[in-house]
Amino acid sequence: MDTFEAVRTRRSIRRFQERPVEEEKLHTLLDAVRMSPSWSNRQCWRFIVVKGKNLRERISELSYVESFFSTRGYKVNPAKKGLSEAPVVIVACADPSQSGDIWAQQYYMTDIGIASQTLMLSARALGLGTVFVGVFDEAKLREELGIPGDIRVVGLFPVGYPLEEKKDGPPRKPLSEIVFHEKWG
Ligand SMILES: Cc1cc2nc3c(=O)[nH]c(=O)nc-3n(C[C@H](O)[C@H](O)[C@H](O)COP(=O)(O)O)c2cc1C
Repeated sequence: MDTFEAVRTRRSIRRFQERPVEEEKLHTLLDAVRMSPSWSNRQCWRFIVVKGKNLRERISELSYVESFFSTRGYKVNPAKKGLSEAPVVIVACADPSQSGDIWAQQYYMTDIGIASQTLMLSARALGLGTVFVGVFDEAKLREELGIPGDIRVVGLFPVGYPLEEKKDGPPRKPLSEIVFHEKWG
């Protein structure tokens, strides 16, 4: 699968088969993530690979944050089931002190964002599915996984074989709305 096909056909996958992910595939995935660009090549990211069922279930529970979801009419994080169902959950963390912090922009979020896209596209190319889960109880997750207080937890990625092939996803804005020429507007 070439890059364009992976970009075009990637979808957020929230339901998974029980089938385990082969160690070799997981290694290939993580090794691709490792190659992502980052601020000054600082590689501020750290990834926790969680396979234990009890821990995955706990992570799944922590993906609901009432103050966020209740005002939006959600009873659960849409990715909750996938987080306990997928055989692997990758927890993406960042050390902000190891990335750029300039002109009120903290680049650790950018670094993790880029690594996340590598993860999602590589998963697709390997026949795996995943979804970026950005809403969770960070403080409780830190406690559960022994993550130090100065490290930010930025995303959770359930990884596994998709339960079904998803052809369509939410539509995108047309180019005419998002691309300007020569100047803004
Ligand atoms: C930063 C970020 C945070 C996200 N958080 C969640 C989340 O907490 N739960 C969830 O089910 N999906 C989450 N998503 C997935 C988006 O809803 C999804 O990417 C978007 O609707 C487009 O759909 P697609 O990925 O299938 O193209 C998140 C995506 C991003 C990029």
